[in-house]
Amino acid sequence: QHCFTKSEDGYLYCEGLRVHDIMESVERRPFYLYSKPQITRNVEAYKDALEGLNSIIGYAIKANNNLKILEHLRHLGCGAVLVSGNELKLALRAGFDPTRCIFNGNGKILEDLTLAAQAGVFVNIDSEFDLENIVEAARRAGKRVNVLLRINPDVDPQVHPYVATGNKNSKFGIRNEKLQWFLDAVKEHPNELKLVGAHCHLGSTITKVDIFRDAATIMINYIDEIRAQGFEVDYLNIGGGLGIDYYHSGAILPTPRDLIDTVRELVLSRGLNLIIEPGRSLIANTCCLVNRVTGVKTNGSKNFIVIDGSMAELIRPSLYDAYQHIELVSPAPSNAETATFDVVGPVCESADFLGKGRELPTPAKGTGLVVHDAGAYCMSMASTYNLKMRPPEYWVEDDGSVSKIRHGETFEDHVRFFEGL
Ligand code: LLP
Repeated sequence: QHCFTKSEDGYLYCEGLRVHDIMESVERRPFYLYSKPQITRNVEAYKDALEGLNSIIGYAIKANNNLKILEHLRHLGCGAVLVSGNELKLALRAGFDPTRCIFNGNGKILEDLTLAAQAGVFVNIDSEFDLENIVEAARRAGKRVNVLLRINPDVDPQVHPYVATGNKNSKFGIRNEKLQWFLDAVKEHPNELKLVGAHCHLGSTITKVDIFRDAATIMINYIDEIRAQGFEVDYLNIGGGLGIDYYHSGAILPTPRDLIDTVRELVLSRGLNLIIEPGRSLIANTCCLVNRVTGVKTNGSKNFIVIDGSMAELIRPSLYDAYQHIELVSPAPSNAETATFDVVGPVCESADFLGKGRELPTPAKGTGLVVHDAGAYCMSMASTYNLKMRPPEYWVEDDGSVSKIRHGETFEDHVRFFEGL
């Protein structure tokens, strides 16, 4: 069951409500529209898959940092994965249990690490200088920090290079040849550091679970080696990265169960607790960006649908050449011709496109047009470029009502930054 369905009447529905009607009822467009029940279903799929394992689902906040969504994920039992002090503060505000939170990153600063030490979250060690900073943060906080070694397992995730993180030349993690240095350094700081596990993250949009099995096998060998030196490590963190069906092609992609099943026996064989860090696979398919068609034009042999949304609200197509499925929310008039369009926004540069070469019926002005799978890395990467202020967010609740879950940013918000200077 998926929240967005195109019905035979030609309208797009979200949990039984016409997206067109929602679009007409809200104060401004574009806006992000989520399904709360879909978020629940996605978390339940992970929970079911993890049955019989001691585990933490660490939701990667960077994918979507809406406070209402975070509160819901926390309520469903998720922990959180953080990459900045502000994400840590937001996680605490959303009520996440700090002992189910993990602070990640290759450039964590001392102030943020001190907050992390005070809060009692897990911290991943990424480099020599990072270890030094964690030791200093532990001293400042007067607390011993539970740390994991972020290991770079050198596995090719077969994804866009910008979202590959666990191959040997990436900026993240610790390489094999330095492992002993880190183990010795941890031993030298028994009052500051408690080594509890090992972490890896391979990349994002991964659609082959064999890649996770390869990485887990490598990681288990590391854990054996670390344990052989007397460390009592109990956690294997295999990161996030599971991809989703952006193409809506009907292709069968690995599910959370497929992912967990490929590592289950390895984890059980060593009596480990499993930490996973999904972002995209929990939240991407719960949302679309709803836009209105401003007009249609043709230049030479190219047809364009111009919408009110843009690369400012949703940058993934411009930045990674990412495909996100696009469709109209209402039936096209019977005489509408189908053509091949680039779907573009009003921003003043040619990188401003949401989709290229899409077959669509020629829409009338004012028609609603959605960009699907916009729950992850869309709003959280939105900007105010061209002073297109960040859009409001809504969700369909469990009872089928629509609530605003984030105010849209306004012009006044922008000018406020200059007050009193
Ligand atoms: N854990 C770590 C250490 C990560 O770096 C990431 C994502 C995740 C977990 C969550 O990965 P996910 O399950 O969402 O794939 N902006 C890009 C994606 C960047 C991913 C960064 N790291 C995009 O829009 O595709």
